[in-house]
Amino acid sequence: MKALIVYGSRYGSAKKISQEIGNVLRNEGMEVDVLDSRGLKKFDTSPYDLVVLGSGIKVGS
Ligand SMILES: Cc1cc2nc3c(=O)[nH]c(=O)nc-3n(C[C@H](O)[C@H](O)[C@H](O)COP(=O)(O)O)c2cc1C
Repeated sequence: MKALIVYGSRYGSAKKISQEIGNVLRNEGMEVDVLDSRGLKKFDTSPYDLVVLGSGIKVGS
């Protein structure tokens, strides 16, 4: 099983949480890629069984 986690983080919380989710999934035996969305124009989800997107909320968005 392969997982992709993509995060958007200004102050670092979403980054830390994404890395921790990645560690938990790795401990469960998954292969995990964790990517910063900054500068990422597009990504291919087809190799992955699980895709997680995460970010902080700023002014309701
Ligand atoms: C200017 C600003 C606006 C925010 N607006 C919201 C909001 O509307 N709703 C919310 O739940 N949290 C809000 N937050 C809290 C952030 O979502 C929270 O600090 C989050 O952990 C930031 O993620 P990051 O550290 O990955 O950038 C706001 C924080 C800042 C600094």
